[in-house]
Parts: sequence; structure tokens; C-alpha cells
Amino acid sequence: MQLYVDSANLKDIKHATSLGFVSGVTTNPSLLAKEDPSLDIKELILDIHKSVGGHVSVEVVSTDTDGMLREADEILSWFPEATIKIPFIPAGLTAVAALSKQNIPTNVTLCFTAIQGLIAANAGATYVSIFLGRLDDIGTDGIQAIEDATEIWDVHQLDAQIIAASLRHPMHVLACAQAGAHIATVPYKVLMQCLNHPLTDKGLEAFLADAKKMQAQKG
Ligand code: E4P
Repeated sequence: MQLYVDSANLKDIKHATSLGFVSGVTTNPSLLAKEDPSLDIKELILDIHKSVGGHVSVEVVSTDTDGMLREADEILSWFPEATIKIPFIPAGLTAVAALSKQNIPTNVTLCFTAIQGLIAANAGATYVSIFLGRLDDIGTDGIQAIEDATEIWDVHQLDAQIIAASLRHPMHVLACAQAGAHIATVPYKVLMQCLNHPLTDKGLEAFLADAKKMQAQKG
């Protein structure tokens, strides 16, 4: 399972990607709205693209197909490798189908069921983002939606990649990997939580202390 960082914060993205295990970034309007309002969105996205050197999903904000396609053109004029993130609404599915005919990668966002994922895949989506944390938030089993999707994907050998999105904690990352999601897009904070283990720190401390002791004994 590949790991993306779900963020629009350049500092966090630069740090996460510098660690060598993150292969993409997903953004959304709410993540962008958290950043300094004086930042130019195009410049920020281009900086993100430069620091990732891999997948970057950029979301449209139009709710009609023509508007989405116009925005897609604009984003692609910024950098042609962009993946266009489109909400799972009927007008979005039409836009996905049109972009798919031009071999433009799309990421269908705001999917909450495997059926929505399946529909998006049939429309020609390259990626389908299934949100699990928001399902958990309303007392539903978010992981079940990912498991349902991976089961359907296995049976039908679908081409689209399943992105597990809206992750809240490291156990979500583990469960998505176990369920067979192709990608998990993980908030920076959760990625950092995944790096930490007290026994790693304790073990390193002991190794370093013993190495020092050995050097001191040698001379
Ligand atoms: C997916 O691509 C979205 O950006 C994201 O995972 C939304 O997660 P949230 O529920 O934490 O806002």
C-alpha cells in the first residue's frame, strides 16, 4: 500500500516527502483554506508538486460539468501531471468520463460506500477516494467500506486504485493496509504518529550508550 500525505501545508509536505516513503499528496479546499490566505493557490500547488515529485491531487470546486472541465484545464496548464480531484456527484461523474477519454487522471472524492467507488471506477476514474474517518464519526464502520471495496475490486479486477481517505489514527492505516487498499492518504500528524514507538527510542538509546561504552573501553 502506497502512502500519500493528506495536506496542503508545504512545510509538513516537504518534511513528510523528505523521509522517502511518501509518494503523493492529496489536497482539498478545506486543507487549502487552513493555509495562509495571502498564499497564491497556484504557486502553493506548484511548490507542493515540486517537493513531492509524484502524485498530486488537486480538487475542483465547480459543481457543474463544464465548470469542472474548465478548472481541470487550468490545473493541467499549471502542471500536466496533475490528478484532477472531482466530487462524487452526477455532474462530477460526467466530467470524470470526459477526462478519462482524454487519458487525464482523476480522483473521485467524497465516496462513502463501495458502490460509489464502483460507479466512479465505471465512469473511468483513475483513483477512488473512500472516506472512512467521516463514517466512523457518525457511528458507522468506515473500515467496512474499504473492505467492501477491496472485495469488489478483487472479484472484478478493476483498474482504478482505491485510496483510503479521511484517516484519523495509525490503527486506520494498519486496517487499510490489511484490507488491501492500494493507497492510504494520511494526515501529516498521523504519519508522524506512525513513525513513533517508545521501544524504538529506548532501543536506540541503549545501542548508543553501549557503543559509547565500547569506544571508551577501547581507549
Ligand atoms: C481525501 O482526499 C480528503 O482530502 C481527506 O482524506 C478528507 O479527510 P477528513 O475527513 O479528515 O477531512
